Amino acid sequence: MCGIVGYIGEKIEIVPFLIGGLRDLEYRGYDSAGVVFLDDGRLNVVKTEGKVNRLLKKLQDRGLTHKKSTLGMGHTRWATHGAPSDDNAHPLTDSSMDFAVVHNGIIENHVELRRELQSDGYSFVSDTDTEVIVYLVKKYYRDNLLDAVRQAVKRLSGAFAVGIVSRFELDKVILVRQGSPLVVGIGSGAMYFASDVNPFLTYTDEAVFLEEGQIAVLTSRSVEVMDYDGSIVEWESMHIEWTPEMASKGGFEHYMLKEIEEEGKVVRETLEGRVNLDGISLPELSGASIEQIGRLFIVACGTSYYAGMLGKYLIEELVGIPVEVEVASELRYRRFPVYPNDMAMFISQSGETADTLASLRLFKDRGIKTVSLVNVRGSTIDRESDVTLYLRAGPEIGVASTKAFVAQLALLYLIAFQWAKERNALDIREYASGLLKLPYQIEEILSDKEAIKRLAEKYYSFRNFLYLGRGFYYPIAMEGALKLKEISYIHAEAYPAGEMKHGPIALIDEQMPVVAVIPRGYIYSKTLSNLEETRARRAPIVAVATTGDSDIVRYTNDVMWIPRSMEIFAPMLCIVPL
Ligand code: BG6
Repeated sequence: MCGIVGYIGEKIEIVPFLIGGLRDLEYRGYDSAGVVFLDDGRLNVVKTEGKVNRLLKKLQDRGLTHKKSTLGMGHTRWATHGAPSDDNAHPLTDSSMDFAVVHNGIIENHVELRRELQSDGYSFVSDTDTEVIVYLVKKYYRDNLLDAVRQAVKRLSGAFAVGIVSRFELDKVILVRQGSPLVVGIGSGAMYFASDVNPFLTYTDEAVFLEEGQIAVLTSRSVEVMDYDGSIVEWESMHIEWTPEMASKGGFEHYMLKEIEEEGKVVRETLEGRVNLDGISLPELSGASIEQIGRLFIVACGTSYYAGMLGKYLIEELVGIPVEVEVASELRYRRFPVYPNDMAMFISQSGETADTLASLRLFKDRGIKTVSLVNVRGSTIDRESDVTLYLRAGPEIGVASTKAFVAQLALLYLIAFQWAKERNALDIREYASGLLKLPYQIEEILSDKEAIKRLAEKYYSFRNFLYLGRGFYYPIAMEGALKLKEISYIHAEAYPAGEMKHGPIALIDEQMPVVAVIPRGYIYSKTLSNLEETRARRAPIVAVATTGDSDIVRYTNDVMWIPRSMEIFAPMLCIVPL
């Protein structure tokens, strides 16, 4: 991923705007950053390998931070083609600085295009795929930037979002969206654009989400949207309910810490108005009666996929329909049968994950009803699904998903209970009261972070961890291991506890701590015998266990406690300390 931000309008101090926007987008990439802005009739480009702070330093050193300008674009990069370097950082320009391009995504046919453009006489300075866009636009430019861009994008294959400016037409910015998100913020006397809404929330809450295959021409007072052939498309703006405060760090050192801290509140919001002791209210599902569903596919990536795994366990157990959970990046390239009474559910915090989106389209093309669990309103998956249920988690800036996961679980509980009520006349009173306690129980766990911190300090120097769980706790073990690798850069692997003896046991010794997700319940004693096996091999054992479980301490070196709950809700509590 990469992040794009930009502005066209009345003169402002452009650098603080672009740098602020890039900071909001650093979650999308942070190995290089750059800006281009109109400066005394020419395009001034400053870029660097490294984070946004390094770019700011460079701009400060050149005395550019208070420059006023009517036009600018910024980019933060996560290298795909070409290592992180000053040359490969965006914006990319042609040699005479006539055109500047920021780009998110991948141009799949860049090798052929580069060859063609080189034989036309253009010389390249970067290793990026992006540079072909610059020279295609230059090649096709005949006093009309829009025409040149339209011709250029028709030559590109792949998924991309692009922002283009030219020193010949300084009154406009051209955006192209094909497979990567781009949103336009409608201001008064100014237009903003970015990869998501966060960079311009302080300035406007009216946004236009570009659709696939659309080109937008922005001036300070107008937005014109068209397809690649130039046919004008009517656009409608959407009101964004998120506030700039919601997307701020709120005094925390990292967004992720803030987002973990919000987990109790998020679950409360997700449940708000959707459950009380008399029942569940999910009007979004009214057109999706469980009686008409023969099989459910749940499709997602990463953390959202693990939420889907727990969803499968819940729905199969409570509702009794078969559920296939699929990693989107696998499913989309496979051939598989579907039946008319299948339903497909997509889980995505961002609503923009390319593989999940591609899978959604695949099911739609095959006439299957689609339901999505999405956090970002107006995102592509939201717009393209037949039905969307919103997570209500607020902006999640940390790349590694945390609060969205608990919101996803909360929604999956609600859906499972609703369908179980319809199909099996489940009495949901007891479940409803358990659900409503969850926000408080999450807050209780988070009130003793010091205990968890002490464990982190004790174990951080180990290089490998094995996470074990059975049943409901296996997806939680998977998610716990994912967090450790992605955030701590420590190798961690999760296994269904009962499967450990079929291979991974060979790795277990005193250098391989085992994290066991083992609350009291139906599968407790089975997991306990697996822990015996790891203890026999002298692995240090850390358990996530239920408060008051006096047996577990005899088997483990350390315990992270979760409050007592109905067993079905224990997975949600277990993920908090992990
Ligand atoms: C990954 C993140 O890149 O994307 C995960 O590291 C996330 O935390 C995954 O779950 C899928 O994202 P989304 O937005 O589709 O839920």
